[in-house]
Amino acid sequence: MMRIGERFRVAVFGTSHGPEVGVTIEGIPAGTPIDIDRIQVELDRRRPVGRRLATKRQEEDRLVIDSGHSGGRSDGSLFRAHVANEDVRREPYDRLADTPRPGHADYPARVRYGPTADLSGGGIFSGRMTVGLVIAGTVARSVLDPLGIDVVAFTRSIGQVDATVPEGADLATLRALAASNEVAAPDPVAAKAMEETVRSARREGDSVGGVIEVRADGLPVGLGEPFFDPVESVLAHAWFAVPAIKAVEFGAGFGAARMRGSDHNDPFVWDAGRVRTTSNHAGGILGGLTTGMPIIARVSVKPTSSIARPQQSVNLATHAPETIVVAGRHDPCIVPRAVVVIESVTAFVLADLALRGGFVP
Ligand SMILES: Cc1cc2nc3c(=O)[nH]c(=O)nc-3n(C[C@H](O)[C@H](O)[C@H](O)COP(=O)(O)O)c2cc1C
Repeated sequence: MMRIGERFRVAVFGTSHGPEVGVTIEGIPAGTPIDIDRIQVELDRRRPVGRRLATKRQEEDRLVIDSGHSGGRSDGSLFRAHVANEDVRREPYDRLADTPRPGHADYPARVRYGPTADLSGGGIFSGRMTVGLVIAGTVARSVLDPLGIDVVAFTRSIGQVDATVPEGADLATLRALAASNEVAAPDPVAAKAMEETVRSARREGDSVGGVIEVRADGLPVGLGEPFFDPVESVLAHAWFAVPAIKAVEFGAGFGAARMRGSDHNDPFVWDAGRVRTTSNHAGGILGGLTTGMPIIARVSVKPTSSIARPQQSVNLATHAPETIVVAGRHDPCIVPRAVVVIESVTAFVLADLALRGGFVP
């Protein structure tokens, strides 16, 4: 299924090495601002160009809006936007046609879709498909802004290196800190060590993974659609569509399993005219509904599967063992580029929930 959402309906199209990748959105309320410059800024955060630690694939990712937009606002019809694929090199993938890369989608995709599927560059399983998610998330921000809802994602760890997140920092501070280095971590000292971790993995023909943290603030109380669409479910559903995401946790997450109720429960207080909690082990969600406290969640990103070292595979035509060396251009660490993607996906999921719950007039 290439689409998601009930009221703010997002569908992605294209393939890694086809002519374009992009997105359609249905359900943007007519009159919602569509800020082309803002979308371009977010697309540029996703681009590898200028990042010394990323893939050498060089593309402009210049936004083209095809429909649904008039005078800087949504006209209420289907919104369609794309960017062109400009730096396509099929040859390394043609050589891999019968020999799946370990850790990538090649094997199950080849079995499921047969030889006609265009899996060059990863096909629809490529990180390039996330262009459409970033466009959708930025459009969704125009739905969230009037509600005062903001979303920030940042790198929490890469390999064995953890960022220290300044206690009590607001989202604007975290955003500014993460924007100050190439790995998008809110800790300049850890960022240097993370960069070195990525560089050394690349030098060794290898890759590393990490953890992205996402926070949403300014939320009304009661966002979410129990029973089957609690906030955790719809966010996790969308995050797992992002290639290379392998786990998610909210608030105390897996750590909650080792806590006692007396530690885990977040005490309620009346503060400045509203109910809040003095801790946030719940990650801002109780009973699938937002509590008004920030949503805090983390996603785990696996190490990039396409590495330069020789790897064991099997030729699907002859069934003979083969040692492959993956060519093509690859990120030695996906985490820094996936930060804006996770942030964007969170934004359009929250916009959908806000529309479903009647929080948007
Ligand atoms: C922004 C982004 C960039 C990515 N770049 C690469 C890459 O350069 N090489 C690669 O092998 N995988 C890359 N991936 C991950 C693969 O697309 C993904 O691992 C693959 O489709 C298999 O899916 P799975 O890891 O979710 O099981 C990237 C993912 C994202 C989100």
